[in-house]
Amino acid sequence: MSWVYLNGAFLPLQEARVPVMDRGFIFGDAIYEVIPVYSGRPFRLEQHLLRLENSLAAVRIEAPFPRAQWRSLIGRIIAENGGGDQSVYVQLSRGVSERDHVPVTPLEVTVFIMSKPLKACGSPEPVSAIVCSDFRWGRCDIKTASLIANVLLRYQAMDAGAWEAILVRDGWVTEGAASNVFVVDDGLIKTPPRSPHILPGITRDLLVEMLGANVIPCAETPVSEAELWQAQEIWLTSSTREIVPVVRLNKTPVGEGVPGPLWVRVNAMYQQAKQAFVFEDP
Ligand code: PDD
Repeated sequence: MSWVYLNGAFLPLQEARVPVMDRGFIFGDAIYEVIPVYSGRPFRLEQHLLRLENSLAAVRIEAPFPRAQWRSLIGRIIAENGGGDQSVYVQLSRGVSERDHVPVTPLEVTVFIMSKPLKACGSPEPVSAIVCSDFRWGRCDIKTASLIANVLLRYQAMDAGAWEAILVRDGWVTEGAASNVFVVDDGLIKTPPRSPHILPGITRDLLVEMLGANVIPCAETPVSEAELWQAQEIWLTSSTREIVPVVRLNKTPVGEGVPGPLWVRVNAMYQQAKQAFVFEDP
């Protein structure tokens, strides 16, 4: 049985209910986080909580709890669901109100936390991707639960027999429909810089940090669509899938059509960082 937290109570998922007038349901007026958990411990928790606070501030929802309470609620959900490897989902909506774009009275925020088992990656399967036009809104740095554009883009990828849609806006790569993008261009690792057009991915930031610490050159710099097409390697990063090598782009092989040598090195580094985290003192 899966245990969730909803507005002050811990209960089985099947028993959790929100009113249909919740603004998350009516407007998609909600933000979320996805936090990976290894051996019962949330990975990069402070970074996820900071992004959660930033998303809340950006959509003008007051944070209902201080950090310490988030840590304790998330810790309890992990324990109730048996520890191990999990993916914890946290969602906050503006609350329940009559349907009006701006609510006329102050609302109580709806807070929901659930978890599902996280398949241990270790060595993520290579995937295919397609290139799509980024038709999302102008604030993709906010982790909003209004994901209709991302859902449609993933459908587009699925229809083409691919896993991810790599998005291009005005000739520049932004990110994947649910991941950040890295390319290897002439031996140099590049990833698009932070901007309102991409989510500041926690895995992306960790990878940039790790590459720096290992003196492997990585540039946070605009990546053109042409650079994407000529890349020797393409990787997608996310908290649940880690670092995934893309071996086909619109059915054309990327590099040799197999995960590249830099990915092998970088993935090993990432797995090491995870292991170190699991065994470090709390
Ligand atoms: N998505 N960009 C987008 C649009 C995303 O949805 C995600 C992750 C990322 C990667 O961010 P991070 O490394 O912090 O997971 C980038 C999550 C996993 C999801 O929606 O399920």
